[in-house]
Amino acid sequence: MKTVLITGCSSGFGLETARHFLAQGWQVVATMRTPSEDLLPRSERLRVLALDVTDAASIRDCVVSAGPIDVLVNNAGIGLLGALEGIPMAQVREIFEANTFGTMALTQAVLPQFRERRAGVVINVTSSVTLKALPLLAVYTASKAAVNAFTEVLALELAPFGIRTRLVLPGRAPSTRFGENARSRMQGSIPEAYADLAGGVFAGWTQSTEEVTQAQDVAAAIWRAATDADCPMRLAAGADAEALLPTA
Ligand SMILES: NC(=O)c1ccc[n+]([C@@H]2O[C@H](COP(=O)([O-])OP(=O)(O)OC[C@H]3O[C@@H](n4cnc5c(N)ncnc54)[C@H](OP(=O)(O)O)[C@@H]3O)[C@@H](O)[C@H]2O)c1
Repeated sequence: MKTVLITGCSSGFGLETARHFLAQGWQVVATMRTPSEDLLPRSERLRVLALDVTDAASIRDCVVSAGPIDVLVNNAGIGLLGALEGIPMAQVREIFEANTFGTMALTQAVLPQFRERRAGVVINVTSSVTLKALPLLAVYTASKAAVNAFTEVLALELAPFGIRTRLVLPGRAPSTRFGENARSRMQGSIPEAYADLAGGVFAGWTQSTEEVTQAQDVAAAIWRAATDADCPMRLAAGADAEALLPTA
């Protein structure tokens, strides 16, 4: 029976992906900053472990407790909307710590066991904003575009060891806690000079009739990345993302 370790399972895509792999009969290590046993169906195949991807000791403890895994899903992430001028560098670093360096650090911690077994898959969740630039998302987009590049280069370095890496790029998903979580970081992030631009962006979202991404779309793309060795490096998740990156 195969085992997947997923980060950021307290809500949104991570929670849905944990449900999906459980339903498919996999062993699931669902990791959360604040572990809760009540979010997922009770199962002998489920373990809920504490993990903050920005904390080296937490990563070390989690990887030891998890034991052997077959697939790592780096899903945990945080958002930030704002003009660069309104974002303190400490916040820029916070975004990169979680989205970029957290992904790198956990991947680094898991690789020795993958290399020794000459098997394993690393799936990194980035975003369709890396396919089509949107205003007021420079820092967030940069943190995710770096993961795209990281993942594609790593694929070359790990192929000789039988290890695969893949990217899942979800579109906009207003149904997760992502927007609400990001709002706590938006204090002062839109200086007055950018108010009109921001107003246009918000109005565009409110009036948009474009399709959005559902958590199930992301779980399905991650499932494909885990189980289909021949799938493309980049998998779009959600109708809006697929419009930007058609995936066969
Ligand atoms: N929703 C969208 O529109 C969208 C679109 C494209 C890509 N994405 C990406 O998809 C991923 C999942 O987002 P989502 O929409 O499911 O958002 P979400 O509901 O806010 O879930 C994000 C998860 O990441 C966790 N997390 C945040 N910082 C962490 C850290 N330092 N260590 C460990 N876990 C941490 C959160 O845990 P806590 O509960 O502890 O905060 C939560 O479980 C993110 O990487 C996001 O950038 C989202």
